[in-house]
Amino acid sequence: MSNNIGIHDLEAATAHYVLPLDALAEAHGIDPAKFHRGLGQDRFSVPAPDEDVVTMAATAASRLLARHPEHHVRMVIFATETGVDQSKSAGVFLHGLIGLGPHVRTVEYKQACYAGTAGIQAALGHIARYPDEQVLVVASDIARYALDSSGEPTQGAGAVAMLISADPALVAIEPQSGLYTADVNDFWRPNDSSTPFVEGKLSMDAYIEATLGSWDDFTARRELKVTDVDRFIHHQPFTKMARKAHAALAAHTGVELGDELIEESMTYNRQLGNAYTASMYFGLAAQLHADTDLTGKRLGFFSYGSGAVAEFFTGVVQEGYRAHLDAAAAVKELSGREEIDYPTYRALHEGYRGASEDYDVDAVTQAPFRFTGVKDRVRHYAAR
Ligand code: CAA
Repeated sequence: MSNNIGIHDLEAATAHYVLPLDALAEAHGIDPAKFHRGLGQDRFSVPAPDEDVVTMAATAASRLLARHPEHHVRMVIFATETGVDQSKSAGVFLHGLIGLGPHVRTVEYKQACYAGTAGIQAALGHIARYPDEQVLVVASDIARYALDSSGEPTQGAGAVAMLISADPALVAIEPQSGLYTADVNDFWRPNDSSTPFVEGKLSMDAYIEATLGSWDDFTARRELKVTDVDRFIHHQPFTKMARKAHAALAAHTGVELGDELIEESMTYNRQLGNAYTASMYFGLAAQLHADTDLTGKRLGFFSYGSGAVAEFFTGVVQEGYRAHLDAAAAVKELSGREEIDYPTYRALHEGYRGASEDYDVDAVTQAPFRFTGVKDRVRHYAAR
């Protein structure tokens, strides 16, 4: 049985449109510096009507598996808080679109922005038991806040697909996690609402408390100094939040932790916005795609999902990892988005259709998969 299990490969995708935060600032009469410096955000992805978490996930997963035609995927875990059905897993839609065989276990996981990490941990357990198999974990979310709310500038959308296997090419996840759960009403989305309810300041406090709580649990279980971690990847609802968490960790441990330990992990999220459970994994992608050679270095992951659950875990970057990465594809995803103005963004937001009555959707996205509409209350998708 292999003890070396982790992320063998990953691929990211986002939505068709992008709104520069300068446009939102101008429309709202807000100093743009509040967004750029105050929140640490520059732009956010906006889905076209024919995109959702399934299409973004399918784009990322199909590109990933195209690099591994001989894959042994035996389980699909679809992590999201933007589910498209209360019963059928978004993973089953994904499974069909990317053409996986029938002998696969497929489920959806939910716990706000934390679910992707729960998916990875379940995958590690599966591979420990069945080392010859692989698990496809896809984190895919659309952060869509109410118009004119304080959360509006932190919207975003994206998916990260990861192949979990023994002897991984990218990052071996080390044993032991620090865990923290507390029942907090900081951020939630009732079944009849397409946008969340947020207690903004409480959510920031809950995030910090849970982060530090998971660190304390970790260090009570495994001897690890904060200086044993070479880079930190924090959950990034907006990148300033990661800076705040990093500063809180430094104060908590009494060790000076420079911004260079998190800087490279934030380059994608500044341009993407919040992708909820995919956010930390966009941070991982940005860190691995950066110029710095991280061979043999330890990454520390702080995963947080409102409500609230947090986990701290570590992973070691594997020798030769750079040869397996496709940074150009991630950059193309971000630079290839169609820029829209504020009225177009607002019309798209107001035109969102969450109900399940029948309708057709025009083709907009240039991505490999699109949502075509609802017929007889069934969601339909197509490959381009
Ligand atoms: N120039 C530079 N900076 C400025 C500025 C200006 N002109 N005007 C304001 N700022 C700064 C403020 O000083 C503040 O920075 P600090 O916190 O470092 O002091 C920052 O900009 C934001 O200003 P406000 O606090 O006034 O912002 P706000 O109240 O309008 O909104 C928010 C902030 C409540 C976090 C809001 O963005 C929100 O509700 N976001 C959604 C919830 C969220 O992301 N919570 C984070 C933790 S929960 C989580 O992580 C799960 C998840 O993904 C949702």
